[in-house]
Amino acid sequence: MTSRLVQVQLAGGRAIASAGTRLVLGVFSDADPAFARLGAEGARAALALAQALRFKGEEGRLVETLLRGKGRALTLVGLGKRGKLTEERARAFVEKAIAVAHAAKAASLGLVVPDHEAFSGAAAAERIARCLALADYRFDRFLAPTTGVRLQSATLAVPAAWRRAYETGCVLGCAIAAGVSLARDLGNSPPNLASPDWMARQARGLARRWRARFRVLAEPELKRRKMGGLLAVGAGSKHPPRLVRIDLGNRGPVIALVGKGVTFDTGGISIKPAAQMDEMKWDKMGACAVLGILEVASRLDLGVRLRAYLPLAENMLDGAAYRPGDIVRCANGKTVEILNTDAEGRMILADALAWAASAKPDALIEYSTLTGACVVALGPTGAGLFSPSDELCGGLLSAAGAAGERLWRLPLWPEFLEEMKGSHADLKNSGGRWGGASNAAAFLSQFVGGVADWAHLDIAGPAYVGGEGGDGRKKRGATGFGVALTVNWLRARGIPVQATARERRRRR
Ligand code: BES
Ligand code: MN
Ligand code: ZN
Repeated sequence: MTSRLVQVQLAGGRAIASAGTRLVLGVFSDADPAFARLGAEGARAALALAQALRFKGEEGRLVETLLRGKGRALTLVGLGKRGKLTEERARAFVEKAIAVAHAAKAASLGLVVPDHEAFSGAAAAERIARCLALADYRFDRFLAPTTGVRLQSATLAVPAAWRRAYETGCVLGCAIAAGVSLARDLGNSPPNLASPDWMARQARGLARRWRARFRVLAEPELKRRKMGGLLAVGAGSKHPPRLVRIDLGNRGPVIALVGKGVTFDTGGISIKPAAQMDEMKWDKMGACAVLGILEVASRLDLGVRLRAYLPLAENMLDGAAYRPGDIVRCANGKTVEILNTDAEGRMILADALAWAASAKPDALIEYSTLTGACVVALGPTGAGLFSPSDELCGGLLSAAGAAGERLWRLPLWPEFLEEMKGSHADLKNSGGRWGGASNAAAFLSQFVGGVADWAHLDIAGPAYVGGEGGDGRKKRGATGFGVALTVNWLRARGIPVQATARERRRRR
């Protein structure tokens, strides 16, 4: 059910502007305007336009003119001084080009990528291609159909020397966009539809398409495996819990990916306040991000063996719900005293991590919308990174930087684990008020067995854009955070990336 993506391609020998195209060229105020890159006709039009309106590439200024041929038009975007163009501003330029295409109701965008280092290299190309591919993303499954023209394709003209990097970047960016789009679609699905079983069925369908090995554990099997955490959290819901496992790839290091899939988090008996509780449908974004990563891996041969573990549960109130005071035994034998049923994520992750760790993967990465405390610490745009391994942190931080996703390391000091020790059980599921994100991470550390290279990403902030109404309405929704950084990290492990034969055919 992946939403439609904008087709992104390189201009090649072809003219960049065909019918219905909005051409966009960035112009520096202190450098040659590079009109020639528009082709003879475009260059003439650009020159006439710039002269008529005295356009000098002033930062933020837009001027436009029609071109010959149906629906064709040209927009010049002022970039300001060449030396002042930062990566941030480069991104703003691409977003502006998209906004121009949308406002013009263009079916295609022809983007002349400025000859400036902020746009050069495969990482920049990946980000630009991904951004363009997702330019028309919307979760419209439940909206009345609209008729208007939608952006269908984007063609990039790049300096000849950048071609190779952009070819790679486009393949990568488009594959990542498909993963992000999938994560968003699943995540945005409402909780009356997206139950744990529904999520498991979606995962089964995807695994079939990926030709991956799929398993799902239902309650009898969860009981046999003594997965008391997942069973406890799921006990209060009419929609029973599930644990999905997917294996994808058959060569290279084994990477376990674990994603929190709470399809709705009411807080349980320790109920949440009413305000914005609807946003807790996005408490499954960890699981959705992992499925997005697998989608990308199914399109690019990443040279890794991925093992995904998705604990799925709905945290509800009911006569059968777990309660504060309960003592629960998790799959690795550790007991937990429940102090707050709203600290449910760590309970379902405990069992999934224990299972993932028992297979002794080379690395284990876990994604969860785990704590409000992490959002308090880092704000809504950055995720918290917790890992005992400096090397793993370094790799993930640089992969995130290249992907344009914000990640920030937070501590796992021994005091946090002390805080989580129980009085009548080995652990308690909630510590004191301070350092809540680290307390949660310390709790998780007790379930990764002997795996040294593990990391926990608390994505509670960046996983979705909440709020309501106004201008924010368009942005509201799941982001797919974590997909791009993880794909980058997997690539940076030195395993050569290639589009699979299937993906190459699809792109032709
Ligand atoms: N799903 C929430 C965390 C969350 C909060 C995600 C805000 C996104 C936005 C999680 O299950 C939770 O409720 N955590 C509690 C833990 C506390 C009870 C120890 C929290 O953060 O308050
Ligand atoms: Mn909760
Ligand atoms: Zn939660």
